[in-house]
Parts: sequence; C-alpha cells; structure tokens
Amino acid sequence: MKNLKSVDPQIYDLIKQEEKRQSDVLEMIPSENYTSKAVIEALGSVLTNKYSEGYPRKRYYQGNRIIDSVETLAQERAKKLFGVPHVNVQPYSGSPANTAVYLALLDPLKDKIMGLSLSFGGHLTHGSPVSFSGKYFNIVPYELNEKGLLDYDEIERLAFAEKPKIIVCGATAYPRIVDFKRFGEIADSIGAYLLADISHISGLIVGEVHPSPVAYADIVMTTTHKTLRGPRGAMLMVTSKGLKKDPELAEKIDKAVFPGLQGGPHDNQTAAIAVALLEAEQQDFKKYSKQVVNNANALSKELLKYKFNLVSGGTDNHLLLIDLSDKKINGAVAAYGLEVAGIVVNKNAVPYDKMPPFYPSGIRLGTPAITTRGMKEKEMVKIAKWINDVVEEVKGDELPKEKESRSYFWKEFRRKVKENKNLLAINEEIKEFCQKFPIP
Ligand SMILES: Cc1ncc(COP(=O)(O)O)c(C=O)c1O
Repeated sequence: MKNLKSVDPQIYDLIKQEEKRQSDVLEMIPSENYTSKAVIEALGSVLTNKYSEGYPRKRYYQGNRIIDSVETLAQERAKKLFGVPHVNVQPYSGSPANTAVYLALLDPLKDKIMGLSLSFGGHLTHGSPVSFSGKYFNIVPYELNEKGLLDYDEIERLAFAEKPKIIVCGATAYPRIVDFKRFGEIADSIGAYLLADISHISGLIVGEVHPSPVAYADIVMTTTHKTLRGPRGAMLMVTSKGLKKDPELAEKIDKAVFPGLQGGPHDNQTAAIAVALLEAEQQDFKKYSKQVVNNANALSKELLKYKFNLVSGGTDNHLLLIDLSDKKINGAVAAYGLEVAGIVVNKNAVPYDKMPPFYPSGIRLGTPAITTRGMKEKEMVKIAKWINDVVEEVKGDELPKEKESRSYFWKEFRRKVKENKNLLAINEEIKEFCQKFPIP
C-alpha cells in the first residue's frame, strides 16, 4: 500500500511543516498539549474504518465485537480514574458534549442555563448569545468580581432569583481553583442540575492538584485533549449524586449523544482516549500534573517581577491571564509579536474588558504543553524574560481607537514586526532552546 508521502505529497509536506513548527516554538496555549506516540498510533489506526452506531452490545451494524471491547475498555478506565458510575466516551468533542447535556435535560426556548459569561472566561457553549446554547435556551450569565474571582454569594443570589434548570461551572480562562462544593450546594438549593465542565483541568484533577467535582456535580464533562493529554474528543460522566437526583440521568445523557445529536462514534478516537486514560493512571502522570501547576506558578511569580498585571493576582492551575492594558499594548498585538519571537499564546478578553473580542486587552497562556516537553521552574525564568522582552519591543505600536484605521494598522504592524531584528533574534534563541526539550 502506498504511504501518505507518495499519495499526497502536499498534505504530507504540510504535516511535516506543522511538526517542525510545533517543535520549534514554545506552545503556550493552555488548551493545547502534545499527545504521546501511542495515542497518535491508536488515532491513526484501522478503527477509523468502522461504523458502530449505538453502544457496546447494542449496535445497529454488524462486525462490532472488537469495537465493543475498545469502547468498554475506555469506559471502564474513565470510571476508575474519575470515580464515577457511568461514562459516555462518544462525544466528538467538548462542544457537542455540552450540547448533548442541554438536549437531554432542557426544553428549548423555555428552560434556563446559568453559566460563566464568555467575556469573563466561560466557554461559548456555556450560554454565549453567539452559540447554539445562547440562541436556543434562556441564559443567565454570571460574571467575575473586580478581583477576577468567582463571587459565590452573587452566584447564589442569581441562581435563587432566576431558578435555572442547569448551572454550569468550570471555565476556559479562569486561573483559580473552582469551589465545586459551593456550586453543588447552590444547585441543590434550587433543585438544578450541576454540570461541571472540567475540560481545562481534568488532567490536574487526575493528578490531584485540583479538587474533583465528582462528589458535588450531577454531570461532569471533559474534553480529552487538554491537560488530560489525549486525542481531541470528550467524555460525559454521570456521578452517583446525579443518579440519586435523577435515576434516569445516564440513559438520558446516552440517548442525547446518540441518537439525539450524533451518528456513529469515531472508534479510532475512542481507542486513543482509552490509551490516554491508561497513561493518565500512571504515577508519572501525577508528577506531570504537579509540574504543570508548579511551572505556571513559577512563571506567574517571574512575570509579576516584570510588573505584569495578572488577573486575580496569579494562578492556582495551569493557566495565566494577563491584562496588558496598563502596559499600553493590546492583546492581539502582543500575541502576534510573541508568535514572531516563537512564543505561541492567545489573545483573550479580561474581566470588564473595554475592548472588542477581536482586539481584547489580554493574553492567556499556560504550561501543559511545555511541561510535557520536560521544562521546569528554571526554564520558566527564561520564558518570563523572553515574554517581557517581546512586550517591551512591540509595546509602542498601539492599536488605533478608531475602528476604521485598524486594518491598515494591522497590515503595517505585521509587516514591520515580521522583520523586527530583536524579535527574530529571540526566535533563534527559542528554537535552539527548544531542541533541548524534544516533543514526544
Ligand atoms: C471549558 C471548555 N468547555 C468546552 C470546550 C469545547 O471543546 P471543543 O473545542 O472540543 O468543542 C472548551 C474548549 O476550549 C473549553 O475550554
């Protein structure tokens, strides 16, 4: 059989280019990671050829004896790792997984979802008006307080006043510990379901460096490709508490995933999730998760020395949110400059941001991927210095206040920054530095 290189040299070459890019830069987007070779091998296997609509031993297609074993193994590993009685490993990704929960439990255009507002660090699927979740359900958004922290008294007040049917906790850009116990108490007090979206922190929960929501939430959703270090995908877990509240909860969730929302599961993805779960059970993974948090902490301490304004003053987990407004540089400008220098982060809104989402005031960065490469606290000192050097270098280029002038500014800024000798020199240093920390 012909290999990829001979069948499609263009795609082969693009994959090789991406491999090199991932190896040459400091990948610091907190939702990204490097999977193991074993995960990639399972993902690129013949399991992609199979159709297996339904669930183990209840399929609509023949020939699923082996697929049943794969899916059952993934379920059993997840149940053991997170300590839950029921798991669905079929959601294609995090967004359809959250959607399936709403489909299972809510009446569209009638019931309310309460979730953290997108501009304060919630995910699109937690009720943003631009997403399905905000268009088809009534939304009760909650926000962070002025210190950039969840205000549990305010959340309780809002929940009591609005009586949502589902409260979503967990976030995309929140650097602090989430008090799942308090969320559970609030949800119970109004008879709501609590959905804990632990997509960002599931690896930290497995590594015991963040408390688990399993005792307090009814449903727990996680993507599998962030700190958990698996393939793209997601899992929906129903807890004992959830089953007590609603004995049919597991069945409702399963029916919502299939046939409610999806067709055939991606069996190669399921196998790769099973591999990632096995890896996450190992002692080494615990060490890895601890190091992710230690690195984020070390990085935040160093950045504070350079007078960066960290939302909430620091971090308890794998990510940092930096408000750049007092450095007089826009988040989009900083992210672009950092990429030219070899540090890949994302622009991000900060609490009470006065700027629009495309030009937000902050950047978000994290340590999961660079920790997988073996970097430790010592390396964070270097990285903080590079971040500061880049920000100082590009900081004079302020984004125009008038919308009309922005596209011209961007074109000119990108042209200039791409040729900036100081940034290119940092890029060379980073490339050399990265060689010492090979990707898996
Ligand atoms: C908290 C949270 N939930 C859900 C998702 C959605 O996951 P996906 O991008 O796989 O659809 C994300 C992705 O960033 C996330 O951060």
